[in-house]
Amino acid sequence: MRAADIPNDLTTVLVTEEQIDAKLADLARQVEQDYEGKKLLLVGVLKGAVMVMADFARHLKRDIAMDWMAVSSYGSSTKSSGVVQIRKDLDTDLGGWHVLIVEDIIDSGLTLSWLLDNFASRGAESVEVLALLRKPDAAKVEIDCRYLGFDIPTEFVVGYGLDYAERYRNLRDVAVLAPHVYA
Ligand code: XMP
Ligand code: MG
Repeated sequence: MRAADIPNDLTTVLVTEEQIDAKLADLARQVEQDYEGKKLLLVGVLKGAVMVMADFARHLKRDIAMDWMAVSSYGSSTKSSGVVQIRKDLDTDLGGWHVLIVEDIIDSGLTLSWLLDNFASRGAESVEVLALLRKPDAAKVEIDCRYLGFDIPTEFVVGYGLDYAERYRNLRDVAVLAPHVYA
């Protein structure tokens, strides 16, 4: 669905499907260059990164490997707890791989900061981050994000994989959720 299909649930569209597609194509060209001749493993962070992963990976004109991790830091509330739990670990031994973590959004940065620490001891050749969205004003820790889609304001957003209580993931755009939905 598009934002226009659920106007009462949203206030502002921040990023459209078309903008996301163009940006992911752009980032794919950069990643192809940076990882030329290197074994590349994309690690998607479930569940929010599913759409980014699917579209970004298909923009790449090269072979990659793909794996997934599930961590939780949010529950169904709209604020970061800072407590990260692994719900599904990788199936891949990272030895020999250049790893690109694919994330939907960097909010406080606590989740990625924890993930990067966790990956540091696993023997990867390198570990970098690609995130579709970032809320620069919400940062509690600085994350070195090599590949970034869009900076957005500090508001709770849904769509393109991002949910509120598992809803709105299938919205093609990224939009601010109307407060009455979670009030
Ligand atoms: P932190 O604060 O650790 O958050 O950087 C990262 C994770 O929190 C979720 N998150 C959001 N989910 N709308 C959402 O639907 C948002 O505005 C939002 N902000 C953070 C998301 O799962 C992300 O991976
Ligand atoms: Mg996420």
